[in-house]
Amino acid sequence: MAEMCNFVVTVGVICNNIIIFAQNKYKFVYSKEYKSHLRIKMKLLQSKLAKYTAPQEAKALGIYPYFRAISSEQDSEVIINGKKVLMFGSNCYSGLVNDPRIKEAAIEATRKYGTGCAGSPFLNGTLDLHKQLEARIAEYIGKEDVMIYSTGFGVNLGVVSTLTGREDYILWDEQDHASIIEGHRLAFSQRLKYKHNDMESLEKQLQKCAPDKVKLIVTDGVFSMEGDVANLPKIVELAKKYDATVMVDEAHGIGVFGRGGRGTCDHFGVTKDVDLIMGTFSKSFASLGGFIATDKEITNFLRHHSRSYIFTASITPAATAAALKAMDLMEEESWRQDHLWEMTNYALEGFRNMGCEIGHTSTPIIPLYIRDNNLTFAITAELFEEGIFVNPVVSPAVAPTDTLIRFSLMATHTREQVTTALEKIQKVFRAHNLI
Ligand SMILES: Cc1ncc(COP(=O)(O)O)c(C=O)c1O
Repeated sequence: MAEMCNFVVTVGVICNNIIIFAQNKYKFVYSKEYKSHLRIKMKLLQSKLAKYTAPQEAKALGIYPYFRAISSEQDSEVIINGKKVLMFGSNCYSGLVNDPRIKEAAIEATRKYGTGCAGSPFLNGTLDLHKQLEARIAEYIGKEDVMIYSTGFGVNLGVVSTLTGREDYILWDEQDHASIIEGHRLAFSQRLKYKHNDMESLEKQLQKCAPDKVKLIVTDGVFSMEGDVANLPKIVELAKKYDATVMVDEAHGIGVFGRGGRGTCDHFGVTKDVDLIMGTFSKSFASLGGFIATDKEITNFLRHHSRSYIFTASITPAATAAALKAMDLMEEESWRQDHLWEMTNYALEGFRNMGCEIGHTSTPIIPLYIRDNNLTFAITAELFEEGIFVNPVVSPAVAPTDTLIRFSLMATHTREQVTTALEKIQKVFRAHNLI
């Protein structure tokens, strides 16, 4: 421990009875004991991974923001560690996650079909309820056919990696969701990145492609971290010009944009021109799972080649029934979308008036830029103390210079709750001279 003597030690973090490091403000000093522990006791892999101590460092500073366990119903107010906080970190824009009618539908389906499916949809894991949900989504989204995957992540992984061949191209926005990136990393095709929502950059990349090869453009409809909307009319125009295929991820568009919450493709009137529309049940549909809606030629191929579809179990009966019910409710209860937008516009105006840097968002996903990792964590922790739950977004989800606090709205937030959040955020941001 001699090498720590020059430091004012405020806290030590202990693992396997050894002090890993001591903290002096933001500096960490690793003890001799810990270093020799890495050398002597551990196998190669463990000793390599034990050098990853960023989480322990954040915990030592009291600013670790992840895995905060909710012990109550999930709505605009939740309980964490016995403390009531206002939830501004959910992706359930429709606010349906705690709806008793959806819970009832899930219970009913569990009674009828059981708790799981014990197999892939390809083999023993297809229920008539899954077929019903596929048909309902096809009609809702406005596409010929639909396949249900176990997660939205699995949809992007299994669709983007499968459709194009060695000589084909995948063109992707640099801020596409991680699941799209994982998808094209698995593909054998040439991968061409274009600048975020920059149509000149997309066109330049399209010009590099051989005209007779498949060109798949993949974009988020609403970008998940910064809340801006893809320029779908222009993307579709370019796709027509260069004979490209378009896939849109509607994870954050459904429940927010379009008639009955159908998403950004519906909002822009480009559903017919977008070849593949991806969605997830884990956000506005208040469930778990995902789908791809597209033409029969494409689903016929995917059903027999897409590995994250074939080699994993189907979504549970409860999740299937919940998504079905949520879709009905989103269509029937238009007040949800109206109120969501009222709260969104109220919050956007509040943040702008306050002088917060909120980028190009115009949606219920509002990024509050902090541009410093530790400060983003510290502010998340301070807001939690003030009774406000928000999500910190740091590298690699965004560039290290673009760290932000992600503030998101649900249709069940009241104006009073949003006002409280705005006041608390103003207080904390002022204390850090951010506004
Ligand atoms: C844009 C986007 N696509 C796909 C996914 C994956 O969805 P799921 O939660 O269903 O795996 C997410 C979830 O974070 C997302 O934000």
